[in-house]
Amino acid sequence: MANYIAPVRGTYDIFGTKALAFNALYNICQQVAFNYGFSYLQTPTFESSDVFKRTLGDESDIVNKEMYSFLSRKGSPLTLRPEGTAPAVRAYLHNNLANTNLQKLFYFGPMFRYERPQKGRQRQFHQAGFEYFNATSLYADVEIILSAKDILQKAGVYSKTVLEINYLGSLSSRQNFAKVLTEYLQDYKQELSEDSKKRLLSNPLRILDSKDKTDKQILQNAPLISSCLSNEDNDTFAEIKELLTLHGVNFNVNNHLVRGLDYYTGFVFEFISNEIGAQSALLSGGRYDDLVEQMGGKSTPCVGFAAGLERIMLLMQEQKEEEICLVLPFDDSFKLDAIKLRQELIANNIRSDIMLEKSNISKKFKRASAKNASLVIILDNDENQKPRIMVKNMKSSNQEPILKTDLINYIKENYKELIKNVV
Ligand code: HAM
Repeated sequence: MANYIAPVRGTYDIFGTKALAFNALYNICQQVAFNYGFSYLQTPTFESSDVFKRTLGDESDIVNKEMYSFLSRKGSPLTLRPEGTAPAVRAYLHNNLANTNLQKLFYFGPMFRYERPQKGRQRQFHQAGFEYFNATSLYADVEIILSAKDILQKAGVYSKTVLEINYLGSLSSRQNFAKVLTEYLQDYKQELSEDSKKRLLSNPLRILDSKDKTDKQILQNAPLISSCLSNEDNDTFAEIKELLTLHGVNFNVNNHLVRGLDYYTGFVFEFISNEIGAQSALLSGGRYDDLVEQMGGKSTPCVGFAAGLERIMLLMQEQKEEEICLVLPFDDSFKLDAIKLRQELIANNIRSDIMLEKSNISKKFKRASAKNASLVIILDNDENQKPRIMVKNMKSSNQEPILKTDLINYIKENYKELIKNVV
């Protein structure tokens, strides 16, 4: 076997029907962003490491062990972005977007995390993110959920997902809960996993997220965050739930949902599915009311989410291969006319190719089938030696002559799958 260079572990190439699904999903995210009034933001794929270190939490898995960090040639610490929220806030502040009408931002692109690769978990993966700045009303939380639902619905996977929600509360509620939880866990200190032992001191809430079996058992009787919420927090959460129900959104309250990143404040959520292996979250997010201030800006409540494209693609139906129209000159004497005709097809955004090789007509037809052609256009002479255009439907094998002047309209009417207007 040839010794070609393989892609790096946890990365992969996208092509064929996967590429079709990827593009379809990207287009869906773009459409939903447009419909809900979000504007596109593109940030660089790498940032100063501080963008993530100062925001995601020292005890988060991402900062602790998953960042691809390196030094620039001049020695500045840089990191390939593991997520898009902190960079969006960085861009919001740096470009003074608070003073513009760009308060709802949509981004898309590759993210990088040094995780153990498995089904639905890569080291380079793609997110489409929605970030709603100045989200003063809790309708913003509802709008964020509705737009997320739209993406999943348009991708045809919504029915395979469950929406889990929780409410983390204000800083003081969380600090209160951290105390109560720590007290409870002290009794089980020796039995906790090594990671959770460390977190007991630094970030006890994250223990709720633990995947360790014993940790999970211990947590079964742990106090709930809801017991430490202020009246105001409880009212807000109740109102969000009411609005979601009003909009026909089903959800489960998961008291252990804390999310892996430290910047979350109030409402948090994940659309999960048990059909994608151990990696259950397809799309997740929540409120981060303190992050803008934490990064040096004015207090700005925000809510957002990111969709994981690869995970959603695992649930999407297999896409149909793209079809094509093939122009086939009977012999060399029809070559120039064939090239001209094909240029006309291209000018009309009709997906086509031309077969100029010197093989006989039956071989050319065999190749046309192999190329998934739905239509073949043959240039030859009729019985009176007059040039003609024959079109052959490759599915039905029907063949008929068509006037050159009618050809484009004929294709537009009968072979819509061959036409795409990108711009
Ligand atoms: P996250 O939950 O870390 O949140 O990631 C969002 C989504 O990215 C996940 O639900 C999952 O679909 C996908 N994802 C994460 N890691 C991987 C991986 N290794 N391989 C494949 N897919 C993955 C955030 O990143 C937040 N910035 C979301 C947010 C936006 N919160 C507020 N605004």
